[in-house]
Amino acid sequence: MADPRTSIISERLKDVRRIIAVSSGKGGVGKSLVATTLALSLAKKGCKVGLFDLDFTSPSTHLILGAGNAKPTEEKGLVPPKVAGLTYMSLIYYSGDQAAPLRGAETSNALIELLAVTLWGKLDFLVIDSPPGIGDTMLDLVKLVPRIEFLIVTTPSQLAFETVKKQIRLLKELKIPILGVVENMKMTPSEIVKKGTERLDLKFFSEIPFDQAVEAAIGSPQQLLATKLGEKVQQIAQTV
Ligand SMILES: Nc1ncnc2c1ncn2[C@@H]1O[C@H](COP(=O)(O)OP(=O)(O)OP(=O)(O)O)[C@@H](O)[C@H]1O
Ligand SMILES: [Mg+2]
Repeated sequence: MADPRTSIISERLKDVRRIIAVSSGKGGVGKSLVATTLALSLAKKGCKVGLFDLDFTSPSTHLILGAGNAKPTEEKGLVPPKVAGLTYMSLIYYSGDQAAPLRGAETSNALIELLAVTLWGKLDFLVIDSPPGIGDTMLDLVKLVPRIEFLIVTTPSQLAFETVKKQIRLLKELKIPILGVVENMKMTPSEIVKKGTERLDLKFFSEIPFDQAVEAAIGSPQQLLATKLGEKVQQIAQTV
């Protein structure tokens, strides 16, 4: 029997115009930074934006935003706090700081629960930071979240891009819209990812340089927007 909470999810998200999952088959490529900066950039443009951290293994957007003690409040559901101008929700509010990651069915259950109880209200964009890989969470998101679109992040490494290509093939088979590919942490010129993306008939958004200023900007949204990464992501936000 279908979980009764799944029917509530569409209702909860009905006033959210676009839902963008920032995702990658590979870990450590900058998903969390790109997702957070994209959300901040869209908000800077005047859009109403939510950011939803669904990384079950290493939620980190609360650190990037410097969310401090912000917490959701309960009112016939969970009302996300406002952090740096974003309507912000994270798994960290569900699982706390416990070291043991959620596993298997627990992750699906937590995902359904959070999607069913969070009151996003009216939003232009909901940006989702996803865990690495093309496993259960990605498939759950595809199944549960209506109108979901994917923005794929890779690094220039062939190893990252090979995994990403596999993810793209899977999303295409599932007929899920893919906005395009972002190449992060670029250090030396190369066209491999750009050409490979175009061969897959997808939009190549841009290269984001490896930027040493990023580390010092963690926890400070304004500073993050002022980095080279911030500059590039603001350009992406103009065209998503
Ligand atoms: N363009 C960049 N310049 C410099 N450092 C970067 C850049 N992009 C990401 N980083 C750094 O690389 C590391 C990985 O970034 P991030 O945590 O956003 O990746 P992720 O894909 O979300 O990782 P995970 O798969 O663990 O969720 C972080 O330390 C981050 O600060
Ligand atoms: Mg991450």
